[in-house]
Amino acid sequence: MSAGNPVFVALDTTDLGAAKAWAKRLKGSVGGVKLGLEFFAARGPAGIRAVMGEAPGLPLFLDLKLHDIPNTVAGAVRAVAGLKPRYLTVHASGGPAMLRAAAEAAAQSGKDRVRLLGVTILTSLDSSDLKRVGFAERAMDQHVAALAALAQDCGLDGVICSPHEVADLRRAMGGEFVLMVPGVRPRWADAGDQKRVMTPAEAMRAGATHLVIGRPITKAADPEAAARKISQELAAA
Ligand code: C5P
Repeated sequence: MSAGNPVFVALDTTDLGAAKAWAKRLKGSVGGVKLGLEFFAARGPAGIRAVMGEAPGLPLFLDLKLHDIPNTVAGAVRAVAGLKPRYLTVHASGGPAMLRAAAEAAAQSGKDRVRLLGVTILTSLDSSDLKRVGFAERAMDQHVAALAALAQDCGLDGVICSPHEVADLRRAMGGEFVLMVPGVRPRWADAGDQKRVMTPAEAMRAGATHLVIGRPITKAADPEAAARKISQELAAA
């Protein structure tokens, strides 16, 4: 397990007040905060600053899943670098020039530079969707492995991956590569719409460096107690 609490709590909302309240309440019981495209589109950089201001010192995972021409993506990486995200996502399928441009922009972001994570294949796509968008020749897991290798070759720090991909990717990518894993559920939580779930401890054992957990914390009757329970279970595993 990585040093410290590996759990980034996903604050999936457009409601500034709710996101600030969660950040304030959870700052001592999670390892970081994930804010995504939905929140960024609604509340912008000022909203991100306001939320992170409630949890001073906690790392931010800004999940914007950038995908555009290299010049534009590099410009977007530089533009959000001022928010000091620890992690930022780009689509690995944007190709080598885009990934390198993003990595170069991230490298210029200073001492605590932005770490870039690649999105391989969205888990919302199945094999027939892959064919329809032109990814026809390989099986899903081969696409994921190839895009993770491309991300690593182009200087990215890691990828987002589902629980069922994490063990293979850890073997293939070596020990240093960041594997940020959503779709994890404690045994006592509802699986919701997540289909292939692992517990937090199982995902860490399989090679995850970080976990993204949303609703089991944010929708719990007592979010702070839920977050503490997860970190205690991880510490005991
Ligand atoms: O509420 P829940 O724990 O399912 O939230 C998981 C978070 O991780 C959400 O922000 C979701 O968008 C994100 N995510 C995911 N599955 C993926 C990629 C991202 O659930 N494959």
